[in-house]
Amino acid sequence: MTPRPEGKISRPGVLLAEAPEDAGRAQTLAEEMGLSFVSDPCMTGGEAVWLVLNGDGLALTDGKMAVSADMTSMLPRLRTDRLASELLVRAAGRVKEGEAPLAVDAAAGFGEDALLLAAAGYRVLMFERDPVIAALLADALSRAERIPELSEPVSRMRLRREDSLPAMGRLEETPAVIYLDPMFPEKKKSGLTGKKFQMLHLLAAPCEQEEDMLRAAWNACPGRVVVKRPLKGLCLGGLRPAWSLRGKTVRYDCLVPSGKQI
Ligand SMILES: C[S@@+](CC[C@H](N)C(=O)[O-])C[C@H]1O[C@@H](n2cnc3c(N)ncnc32)[C@H](O)[C@@H]1O
Repeated sequence: MTPRPEGKISRPGVLLAEAPEDAGRAQTLAEEMGLSFVSDPCMTGGEAVWLVLNGDGLALTDGKMAVSADMTSMLPRLRTDRLASELLVRAAGRVKEGEAPLAVDAAAGFGEDALLLAAAGYRVLMFERDPVIAALLADALSRAERIPELSEPVSRMRLRREDSLPAMGRLEETPAVIYLDPMFPEKKKSGLTGKKFQMLHLLAAPCEQEEDMLRAAWNACPGRVVVKRPLKGLCLGGLRPAWSLRGKTVRYDCLVPSGKQI
């Protein structure tokens, strides 16, 4: 994405199908996201950004550059020799051979962190409440299913297009881990950099409910809650983590719910 222009920028309002053969799918997607469907590039004229569907998948564009969610960019980090040293994987905990415990990613975004957890052996239930981000993620997952190195971890990932806050109160299975990275208001840095980070910021408002999310995660009684924080950020909700893992820009706070509701 080009740098965020000065002044107010609006969310995408239209979805363009580049080729006639994409029109049917584009129309369905546009309806799901509450966007207008167009089949003529001229009809995107008044928009700063719009969604486009073509042979490469679904992307957000300003007409010059297109940004999509893309799991292939994660491939180097999924190599066996690197995966075990990923801070998030260490924070979630090692998966024993033959097991596939449940991890809930309560703020999935483009699913990159969820993919790390899936590659480490977790079944990952992802929640994404923004319909456009969820559609971009779903598109990335369906492309990744067809890539041999990604198909196995992706088969353990499931996306729910809903707000995780109420959903965490009615999970059908107690997760081993609940992971929270909901774009904290004070967050200046993220694992996602450049174009992708700018796009997430364009689409997703900073989360104002982060303490409620932590409370909902804790009360779901998982084995642990992992919270991604800015390196020097305060502990969420004033709750002291049992331990933390520190990287260059972020920190993973690990909390072990006591079973007592908060
Ligand atoms: C910082 S991004 C997550 C990035 C993600 N960890 C990754 O690896 O791509 C935060 C995302 O959480 C989503 N989000 C925030 N609060 C949410 C909630 N209560 N339920 C579901 N999604 C939420 C936002 O829409 C945004 O897409």
